[in-house]
Amino acid sequence: MRNAVRCTANSQFDSGTLDYTASDHFMTNFLRWLTFALCLPSLSGQGAAQVAPLLANINARQTTSLDGQWQAIVDPYDVGALDYRAQPLKNNSAFYKNYKPQSESELVEYDFDTSGQLHVPGDWNTQREQLLFYEGSVWYKRSFDYTKSLKNRLFLHFGACNYLAAVYLNGEELGEHEGGFTPFDFEITDRVRAQGNFLVLRVNNTRGRDQVPTVNTDWWNYGGITRPVSLVEVPQTFVQDYWVQLEKGSTRQITGWLQLNGPKLEQKVTIRIPEAGVSKTFQTNSMGRAELSFSADLALWSPENPKLYRVEIASETDQVIESIGFRSIEVRRTDILLNGKSVFLRGISLHEEAPVHPGRAWGDDDARTLLSWAKELGCNFVRLAHYPHDESMLRMADQMGLMVWAEVPVYWTIQWENPQTLHNAENQLNEVIARDHNRAALIIYSVANETPVSDARNRFLRQLIQDAHAADATRLVSAALQSNQVADGNRMTIHITDPIASDLDVLGNNEYIGWYTGRPEDTDSTDWISEYGKPLIMSEFGGDALFGYHGDAHTRWTEEYQKNLYEHQIAMLKRIPFLRGMTPWILKDFRSPRRTLPRFENYFNRKGLVSDRGEKKEAFFVLQKLYRELQGAQPRK
Ligand code: GCU
Repeated sequence: MRNAVRCTANSQFDSGTLDYTASDHFMTNFLRWLTFALCLPSLSGQGAAQVAPLLANINARQTTSLDGQWQAIVDPYDVGALDYRAQPLKNNSAFYKNYKPQSESELVEYDFDTSGQLHVPGDWNTQREQLLFYEGSVWYKRSFDYTKSLKNRLFLHFGACNYLAAVYLNGEELGEHEGGFTPFDFEITDRVRAQGNFLVLRVNNTRGRDQVPTVNTDWWNYGGITRPVSLVEVPQTFVQDYWVQLEKGSTRQITGWLQLNGPKLEQKVTIRIPEAGVSKTFQTNSMGRAELSFSADLALWSPENPKLYRVEIASETDQVIESIGFRSIEVRRTDILLNGKSVFLRGISLHEEAPVHPGRAWGDDDARTLLSWAKELGCNFVRLAHYPHDESMLRMADQMGLMVWAEVPVYWTIQWENPQTLHNAENQLNEVIARDHNRAALIIYSVANETPVSDARNRFLRQLIQDAHAADATRLVSAALQSNQVADGNRMTIHITDPIASDLDVLGNNEYIGWYTGRPEDTDSTDWISEYGKPLIMSEFGGDALFGYHGDAHTRWTEEYQKNLYEHQIAMLKRIPFLRGMTPWILKDFRSPRRTLPRFENYFNRKGLVSDRGEKKEAFFVLQKLYRELQGAQPRK
């Protein structure tokens, strides 16, 4: 159900330029609020609420979890939203009304309370066998009582819902959010009751050509309320967000801002870092914003020493405790510098699939297990493919000392000419920056994966690259490109020529020599060149192997084939002078609708170094050996 007036959460007004660090951040928010209120038709006559500006650091606030078993109605034909003429329902037959028959003779054709349950957070596909391939709408209902302190405000926070979520409270529409991998909030201060609240969501994961990602992905289109849901109670005027990070290229100067939200916008605010003896006071302006700038002696965050500081962010009416690491990340010619020193990014790619139970991963436990496997490999870096992963993954990477490549799902062939699609992609980029900008682990934003070169595509990606740089001058921007190979006598030369490379800070490149093209041994006679004078991260390489299937090194699907492929790849990669990192494809086998081969695939991509049951394949130890060597090696001067 796609109506022309639907707004993607945040970016109505961003019009392609992310205005994150510029001073009128609050103005952008206010205008966004205004637009939303204007464009969202309310199905219930009373004005719809609006998607609120993202509240930072939910877990450090007064929250009430709404996770658990929710009532659910699977609605493949959207009868809960549309009448038989496909017109939006406004009467009690609309499922968000949660209406019950008032008499034996009244006809009501839906009932949440007898329709079964689904666990939240969680995808629906792996909770019921018949929903494994299901794409469409599912309605969720959660009843709750809530006594809010009179003087406070209340927000509803969603970690993520895939793909399109329409949210209703007590029979009224709150709003919609598009994009399956980023958080959103609604303010419900004036809508919540002490008793008998019913929260209803229509979540739809139908793929669409104009969406981000679009209709074709090599990962499972898990649908549902895939990350935690919570009620967040805050003071009338609260600390909505803050940016406390080292200035670009500095290891002492902290710059940033703090944004208040509420009636009392001009306040004294204080930033304390007790362990570093820092206590600084600033004044917010009439927009509730304070620019922060001060120097401090800090132990810098790095994979070897993932030092996080307790940071107390306080205003006269609110306080938030944060845990922040301080590090600088830069590029100098073909080198990547962490805290001013050259660093090689020993990485692995991973999807957001749970390590042991099927389906989407979420929360600390899944993050810790997946990242522990990466640490066991000897990694100091992970590529979170191909979309923003759960916030707990970023915070766990902060704690465990793993640098992060984060990506928005501009994947394969997106509708480059469609302004709505660009809006959507910018919005997802904006939301991930809004959520993770205080994470030391996060060093690279990737704006695309394997996208075909064209003028329209180049314009689209250049806009995203510009947005990322405008919103965050302290981090690097990259993309996973593809390059052409040219035969050159009995050798092969791969030339990185993608025009977008000139706009990137770091080049990413995916190659599958030995799996989709040629034999593993072909890498022995393959050379790489690039005129860009920039560092390269080989963002993907690899081959499939079914755990436990053994044979000679040239038999596809065997562990020996994968091992052989890795050995040859590594020898080639060591010969690339401007290579400064790699994230082989992939840590763990993952579900994919594109992988239909019985026995070997069974709807799984088997390029994992770990099987879908957590078993390590032989190639795991080949990469581990390399990373241990690199760990021992002296860094470049
Ligand atoms: C691509 C793509 C991945 C995919 C992989 C593969 O490069 O980026 O999403 O899973 O190749 O084919 O295994």
